[in-house]
Amino acid sequence: MSRFTDALDAHLVNEFSASQQYIAIAVWYDDQTLPQLARHFYRQAVEERNHAMIIVQYLMDAEAHVTIPGVPAPRLEFTDPIEPVRLALEQEKEVTTQIEALAHIAREEGDLVGEQFLAWFLREQREEMASMADLLRTVERAAETNILLAEDYLARESIGDGGESADAPPAAGGAI
Ligand SMILES: [Fe+2]
Ligand SMILES: [Fe+2]
Repeated sequence: MSRFTDALDAHLVNEFSASQQYIAIAVWYDDQTLPQLARHFYRQAVEERNHAMIIVQYLMDAEAHVTIPGVPAPRLEFTDPIEPVRLALEQEKEVTTQIEALAHIAREEGDLVGEQFLAWFLREQREEMASMADLLRTVERAAETNILLAEDYLARESIGDGGESADAPPAAGGAI
């Protein structure tokens, strides 16, 4: 066991929680009959789940502890269609800080494989923060007149990479 793999194991809850929060957001939008926003977050939820399973695979390969965690209850209630995206952007920023901290531990421990593994996550976080910021701008702009403009926009344009990343590390059980 190393300090790095222990910290990585402890990070699993953050990825699974992100996934659960995105499911909650997707269902909220779905309930509001905003299917494109719902679709975006259903997909994000799967992406976060895949992040967790990539870490699970890494920990197994490293013969380290793998602890599949319970997750705290996600936020379920929102007052307007902008709030969920604000929360999502905050969450992405937090996860970026967490991954950066993990990368520092890998470096301190001289764990070169671990450090290299996290390089993909750091790039992924940059992409996710940028696309969530784009989505926030889109939703804010649409909300000034009619939120359905955001639905039209999402039906035409895709925001983010849709979970496609050719160089993603392998996920336990396969990415979905
Ligand atoms: Fe993630
Ligand atoms: Fe994310």
